[in-house]
Amino acid sequence: MHLPDLEVAKKREKKANNYIKLEEHYDKVFLGKKYFLRTYGCQMNVHDSEAIRSYLEALGLEESKDASFADVIVLNTCAIRENAKDKVTGFLGKCNYLKKKNPNLKLVLAGCMAEQPDVIDEIMKNHKYIDIVIGTHNLHELPKLLMKEFNKQVIEVYSESDEVIEGMHYTRDSQYTAWVNIMYGCDKFCTYCIVPYTRGRERSRKLEDIIAEVNNLKEEGYKEVTLLGQNVNAYGKDIGETFSHLLECVAKTNIARVRFVTSHPWNFTDEMIDVIAKYKNIMPYIHLPIQSGSNEILKRMNRRYTREEYWALFTKMKERIPNVAITTDIIVGFPNETEEDFEDTLDMVNKCAFDGAYTFIYSKREGTPAARMEDNTPMSVKEERLQRLNNLVNHYANVNNQKLLNKTVEVLILGVSEKDNTKVYGYTDTMKLVNVVGPKDIIGKIVKVQITDAKSFSLDGEYVK
Ligand code: SAH
Ligand code: SF4
Ligand code: F3S
Repeated sequence: MHLPDLEVAKKREKKANNYIKLEEHYDKVFLGKKYFLRTYGCQMNVHDSEAIRSYLEALGLEESKDASFADVIVLNTCAIRENAKDKVTGFLGKCNYLKKKNPNLKLVLAGCMAEQPDVIDEIMKNHKYIDIVIGTHNLHELPKLLMKEFNKQVIEVYSESDEVIEGMHYTRDSQYTAWVNIMYGCDKFCTYCIVPYTRGRERSRKLEDIIAEVNNLKEEGYKEVTLLGQNVNAYGKDIGETFSHLLECVAKTNIARVRFVTSHPWNFTDEMIDVIAKYKNIMPYIHLPIQSGSNEILKRMNRRYTREEYWALFTKMKERIPNVAITTDIIVGFPNETEEDFEDTLDMVNKCAFDGAYTFIYSKREGTPAARMEDNTPMSVKEERLQRLNNLVNHYANVNNQKLLNKTVEVLILGVSEKDNTKVYGYTDTMKLVNVVGPKDIIGKIVKVQITDAKSFSLDGEYVK
């Protein structure tokens, strides 16, 4: 195995730092002003928002948790389902009202919706008061665009190219667990999905840049990194690398916990399974979206695997990775899904007994191949299927959680529990949420916890000294 060239990475990192430090020239034109940032969508967007926050703060803005006090509002949008769009348009109405009260308020629409030209045309027609629309590819240009809006001299420090941008800074949500992009975009073109259109083609970051970022995070005290990509298995195809090699190199940094999301069942290699099984600091947790249990539907979804292939992969993972937890995503009501198709999905849920699942009713996305497929299944039938599916999914989540009752497990404690501020909360290696009776000074540490109660969506436990 070859290790990444850290010297080269360090040089690149240095160059990147110089380039970001030019922010000092921004003159803090927004000093004393406030921003409000709202994020919709997946982990990609959550992590992009950490970059947006860093840019806004570099301009001198401070965060406000209340949009009414903001001078800049950024909506980082999602386009995955129709209701994601509805939420944004709902909030835009409120922004219009705020702009009338404060004409200097700048309104920025970022994220995946900004990558849909037709949708944006329509939104701009109805919401003329939006100042800046910025897509997912050119996020790094946000400071420049904001400066322009404020009619200040613009200093050209950011590249406008379509390449992978290095040297991004993040104001991270957590001090202990961090997202690390390993690649951008998606080439899978599942027929229902908008992501390949909003995030563009697959492009990988260089291995040494990723390792340098993980090493920095470790030095800063981070306990956990989650490697991010729409389909992490595809990492490296464009640069002659592989995901299994990357994973091994990340594990060798000796950061306490390594996670990754999302993996596609297609092309999940034996090497990947072996690496996950071999390294103790790679967490035994895999999110493996199945989407449907019907071969006919999987084919029409362009998922590139059959239910039999999914099952073979699933059992291999369970056999080779000790105590692995596997969760999934499922879509019900794909165009013309029959009761029989749906029962095939229930059957796979019964076989796999997933640790958890995110379930969705199919949502038609204009421009995708599935949008042109005939669909005669009434919404009431789809809703009823979703209900049946959720009942089954929750049942297995509970069954799996019950197995942990009275066991002692390792938990990375992340903060004070939201529901009960006398408790702290964290996640097991298998990504299960635990509310813990224990002192506040264990926050940021990996500690032993005895599980005292188990429900479908969370566990309760007590800190064991
Ligand atoms: N790249 C990830 C998924 C990203 S989107 C993967 O392939 O696993 C997250 C989930 O949203 C998908 O797994 C799918 O279950 C769901 N989803 C995507 N498009 C959808 C649509 N048009 N309607 C309903 N659910 C959808
Ligand atoms: Fe969408 Fe499929 Fe790509 Fe996932 S793998 S982002 S579902 S196209
Ligand atoms: Fe939504 Fe874009 Fe993620 S469409 S789910 S925010 S990649």
